[in-house]
Order: sequence, then structure tokens, then C-alpha cells
Amino acid sequence: MNLIERPRRLRKSGFLRELVAEHRVTVNDFITPLFVTEGKGVSIEIASMPGYYKRSLDLTVDHVKLLRDCGLKCVLLFVQVSDDLKDNSGAEALNPSGLMQEAIRALKLAVPDVIVMTDVALDPFSSYGHDGIVQDGEIVNDPTVDVLTSMAVSHADAGVDFVAPSDMMDGRIGAIRAGLDLAGFQDVGILSYSAKYASCFYGPFRDALDSAPGFGDKRTYQMDSANSREALREVVLDIEEGADIVMVKPGLPYLDVLSKVKEISTVPVAAYQVSGEYAMIKAAAAQGWVNEEAAMLESLLGFKRAGADLIATYFGLEFAQISH
Ligand code: PBG
Repeated sequence: MNLIERPRRLRKSGFLRELVAEHRVTVNDFITPLFVTEGKGVSIEIASMPGYYKRSLDLTVDHVKLLRDCGLKCVLLFVQVSDDLKDNSGAEALNPSGLMQEAIRALKLAVPDVIVMTDVALDPFSSYGHDGIVQDGEIVNDPTVDVLTSMAVSHADAGVDFVAPSDMMDGRIGAIRAGLDLAGFQDVGILSYSAKYASCFYGPFRDALDSAPGFGDKRTYQMDSANSREALREVVLDIEEGADIVMVKPGLPYLDVLSKVKEISTVPVAAYQVSGEYAMIKAAAAQGWVNEEAAMLESLLGFKRAGADLIATYFGLEFAQISH
């Protein structure tokens, strides 16, 4: 054939492919979610997330040292508190000696250079398992935003670097920014779950924290999977309200959304490869149906190609350990 263009020329060898690769994944891209539970010396594998553990604070500190030694620079904390601490007001979320606040303090003391981010939403503290305050069967927006703002300030008091509101209430980024500034925490950042969809892929996470909604679902606040322009609206609002980083969640089923967000965002864009995505790869690999390492690398690269500047993923340590 008389071809002038032969794209295969650039695929001839591994070295050449490396040379012309458009995107790469590195340990610098990762946010590592961690589940902190009460007690001491506790380490429990999450049944629906093989190879992933919830740990008490002492073991979490050890684990974060390991993460840092492997080049992982940022953690995103979630806590599991006992049922008797849950109510419909989020009181425990504001407890200055609550598990989250203690976790922030312990990590900033033991590994000060690691960036600590915290989940801001009421579901782990809610007797209803909802992200906000419930009144007459509805999740009420404005009273919830007040509590989330106090929660963010309480995390800042404990020394957090970034708060990560994951609740999808309207106006919470502006309120949290104002609350942090008023309390003197101008340097505490906000990673906003800007486009967070109501998704079945959060199932294993809710198992891990025992935080499944007690009634109904989260569709009156998390986004409808049918929409992508609405994600841009949420992102624009969050940036106007002061978000430092915006996030799209889940990941793989929403790469189109990620790509559109990247086109319009003036701040870094994160993607969250959620618990169900991790579980699917693990489950298929356990059956011998996909190669785990290849599936992990290909999915992570997909996030970068779609435009992610950062990736929240449960695969961070595994990636770091194989790429060293
Ligand atoms: C809670 C929260 C959820 C996740 C992050 N923050 C669950 C939910 O909204 O029900 C999901 C993370 C994952 O599945 O990995 N606000």
C-alpha cells in the first residue's frame, strides 16, 4: 500500500510508546480515602472491598506513614462511629474530641507533610443515614448547610488542610468558605464534590461505614445520572462560591462528565473512582476474568485521559507498590 501516514510507526516498541505517551499516572495524582473506626489495634477487612481495611486511629497513623513512604501525599478521611452517637442533628460531627477531629490531630502530628482532607457530610453521624437533617421525611437544605459549616470549622480547628463536602446541599460551598474565613481559616481549602451522582456504585462504601440510608434514597440531593449539563452548572456555582478543587463522582461511568468539566474549570479537577468500581475490578480479578493490575492501570489512565488532575482511588497503595 502506498500510505504516507502510518500511525503504527509510533507504536513499534515499548520505549517509543513511552516517548510519545500523552498521559501518565503517577503517585502524585492520588488522594487515598481511609476509613477510621473506633477502638485500638483494630483492622477489619471490608467484605465488599477485598484488600481494603477500616482501622482504628493508632493503626491508621501507621498506615499513613507507609503511604507517605510510598509517595502518596494526600488522604481523605471518613469515620465510622457507633450507632449510639448518631442522631438527626449531627451533634457528634461537631464534637471537638470526636473521632474525626482526633484523627486530624493525630495525623497532622505524626505525618505533618501529608495533606489531610476530611469528608464533610452528616451520613456517618445520622440516625437516618442521610447526608443532611431530616424533617418530615425530607432532607432540609439550609439547616443542613449550617451544621456542615460548623463541622468544617471544627475540622479546621483540629488542623485539617482541606475539607471535602460530599453532601450536595445547595449553597454549602459559599457558606463553608464564609464560615472558615470568619473563624480565621483562610488557608484551609475546599475540595468540593461538585458533581456527585446518586449511584449504586457507593454500595461497598456504605457497607464499610454502615451508612446506608434508613429510608428512601439520595436522589433529592445527589445528581441524576441522566444529566451532564447540570454538572457544569454545579461546578460553575462551586467555583464562584470558592471551591479550590472540584470533583466528579463516580468515575468510570462519568468520564464524559469529567471531560466536560475539565474544559470549563479554572481550578483543578478530581475524579473519584468509588468503592463499587474498586469492588468490580477486584471481583472480576478474583474470578480470573480480568487481570487485576492491567485493569487498575487502564482505569486510572482513563481518568487522566478524560482530564483528571487528581484521582481519589482505593488503588493508590497497590499502584505505588507495583510501580516502584
Ligand atoms: C458520603 C459519601 C459517600 C461516598 C463518599 N462520601 C457515600 C454516599 O454518598 O452515599 C462514596 C464513596 C465510595 O463509594 O467510594 N457523603
